[in-house]
Amino acid sequence: MISNKDNIFRLDTQNTSYLFRVTEFGHLETIHYGEFLMEQSLDAALLKHTAVTGSTVAYESTDPIYSLDTLSLEWSGIGKGDFRHSPCEIRMPDGSFVTDFKYVNHRIVNGCIPMTTLPSSYGDPADCQTLEITLADSPGEITLLMYYTVFPKTDVIARRVVLENHNEKPLVIRSLMSMMIDIPNRNYSLVTFHGGWIKEAHRQDRALQYGLFVSESTTGASSNRHNPGFLLAEQGSSESYGRVYGFNLVYSGNHYEGIELSNQDLVRVMTGINPHCFEWPLAKGERFESPEAIMTFSDQGYNGMSGHFHDFINEHIVRGDWKGKERPVLLNTWEAVVFSFTQNKLLHLARQARRLGVELFVLDDGWFGQRNSDTAGLGDYTVNRKKLPGGLPAFAKKINRLGMQFGLWFEPEMVNPDSDLYRAHPEYAVCIPGREPSLGRNQLVLDLCNPKVRDYIVESVRGILTTADITYVKWDMNRHMSDMYSACIKNQGEFFHRYMIGLYDILNRIFKDQPQILLESCSSGGNRFDLGMLCFSPQIWASDDTDSAERLEIQKGLSYLYPLSSMGAHVSTAPHQQTLRSTPLSTRFNVASFGCLGYELDLKYLSRMEKREVRDQIAFYKEHRKTMQFGHFYRLDALRANKHHWETVAADGHEAVAGFFQTQSAASEGLNILPLTGLDSNTRYSIRTRPQPLYVKQFGGLINHILPFHIHPEGFLIRMLDKFYTLTDCVEEYEGRGDLLSSGVKLNNQFIGSNYNTRTRLLGDFGSSLYVISKEG
Ligand code: DGJ
Repeated sequence: MISNKDNIFRLDTQNTSYLFRVTEFGHLETIHYGEFLMEQSLDAALLKHTAVTGSTVAYESTDPIYSLDTLSLEWSGIGKGDFRHSPCEIRMPDGSFVTDFKYVNHRIVNGCIPMTTLPSSYGDPADCQTLEITLADSPGEITLLMYYTVFPKTDVIARRVVLENHNEKPLVIRSLMSMMIDIPNRNYSLVTFHGGWIKEAHRQDRALQYGLFVSESTTGASSNRHNPGFLLAEQGSSESYGRVYGFNLVYSGNHYEGIELSNQDLVRVMTGINPHCFEWPLAKGERFESPEAIMTFSDQGYNGMSGHFHDFINEHIVRGDWKGKERPVLLNTWEAVVFSFTQNKLLHLARQARRLGVELFVLDDGWFGQRNSDTAGLGDYTVNRKKLPGGLPAFAKKINRLGMQFGLWFEPEMVNPDSDLYRAHPEYAVCIPGREPSLGRNQLVLDLCNPKVRDYIVESVRGILTTADITYVKWDMNRHMSDMYSACIKNQGEFFHRYMIGLYDILNRIFKDQPQILLESCSSGGNRFDLGMLCFSPQIWASDDTDSAERLEIQKGLSYLYPLSSMGAHVSTAPHQQTLRSTPLSTRFNVASFGCLGYELDLKYLSRMEKREVRDQIAFYKEHRKTMQFGHFYRLDALRANKHHWETVAADGHEAVAGFFQTQSAASEGLNILPLTGLDSNTRYSIRTRPQPLYVKQFGGLINHILPFHIHPEGFLIRMLDKFYTLTDCVEEYEGRGDLLSSGVKLNNQFIGSNYNTRTRLLGDFGSSLYVISKEG
């Protein structure tokens, strides 16, 4: 995996090679990161410098051509001739900002070297190897330890740094990235994932241009605005073709990604903690750990790259009992009842859920203190006896008796000013002494830099978890940070990062010895969808937006970086509560089935036929759950702008499920092809549409064309008919070898108004179908 010969470090994974060397002046120069290289003689790959570039600064007078500005580097400082952005800005003990870190020594160890303050990836010594390189600026005084952990099977390399001060005088870190690499530009585009509340992770592509592009978060969390994960892709790359690099950060706080194209056509990539409001003094003997960055490469397009990330996350990020374990189908009470419920109402919902096949009943917000709206009660985790007279243990038992597991919502990092906790301990909230703090969703942030606050949270959440049979926790966090200040720290430049260290400490203390609890983290949906949280919570609520048309974009965006097993995805009501868009129940399920399925609606409003449809959906999902959560996921390039094609292939290849999704329907649409991939060319498969009902009301006035008498298209008769009767959408069945199916399955016509028969597919706006591809024999 890792070798070192003639000053060259070589880090190989199954399909990638990463090479860099120590230059004659001790800097680390990147030689290659990308395709696996068989070749040992690297002359052709080295950057050539045969002439002095005008306006550059020579590093040493002995070699006028050697200039840091033109080198492809693994790390760079400030003030020695590299004028690109530096991964570190440190006020050194001598008061200057000049740093020049050079190679001292290295060691290679089997396995990972765990971090002490932050979560990180993990693996057995047989599965990964770590290279530790010591660099120093003024040897023996300021040391930078660079770590490279190589995960060969998943083609991922994890990088991070540790800065140590051995000087008598303190230094101050103003910025310290986790990694830096310079890659020769090959017409790369930068792909980032942006958005906001209810519109997370929308993919954005931009061509690289000279200068620096920054994607970052300043909200205190990794944020729904700019995900820490990003890609560099050769222009023209597709889902299945092209050279694509992927980067991400194991961190849930403010992050920073700097991508700079230099005038020498080198792309500098850096990622780490955001320097925004960051300042960290380091006295003699102290060290600072950066979060871990992960990187991967594939020459098989975006799917190749995201496949590496998915395998890596399932194998080396997610831990505990739920690693690789199928997640239960849940019903979440939030969109059904919000804050207004009684025990009877919940039990009624639970009974219906159970009849439809739900396995886990999750009681969301509103069960404690005076939490009858979002203006009060956060922080007071004593059950509201008016709502649950017998308390949580008794309620959990009732749910268990119905045959379901019980899960519970918390928002432990927050407090409402109107709460007993705040009245007793106003000092627990983040605020600047003497100034009125700003509210977000009527709440304040608790000061996780304060050990007493951390103890309070650990004790109150643990207390509840030990009294009732709770197998699932939804850990929410619903505002961005403001008024950053903690009385517990001297230097307020440490606030954001110490908050994160505090959060990780709390999560560790509550859940490490309760690995049977399935933790789903949430932050107003996907406001903290990152690898740091995935180290604790195997799944994350992807978005408060459950509109299936919106979810196509959101889940697709997330899928470039995170596996299906990590995405909470629910079926909710239509018209949708945020977009007012109506989408078919079938599509709401078809989209949510590519993730960890749940339902979030008041089931009593479903008609008998809709209930039957939901029961069939859940049964289908359970049958194919392993494939839907842990299969190899592919996005397939859409053949038309109004289509999305997804496919997940079981790890053992016995089956695949493909989704054909349509957004706006088009008049008289021509050929529809179902693209497929990941099948074995020599194996025979059968392919069949998942049968799904068609409701008569969907046809509107057309119904009068086939009835012998005339009825009102939205009248009582149609509404009654819809409750008791449905048609079945066209089911297609074919068979063939993998090579044939992978050339694309030509589907039946869509309905175009000319006539209707059972072989015509009825999609309309936001229609969709799932296809099951099963190995024959
Ligand atoms: C925000 C979450 O994203 C929702 O799912 C729900 O749990 C609410 N908070 C409850 O207040």
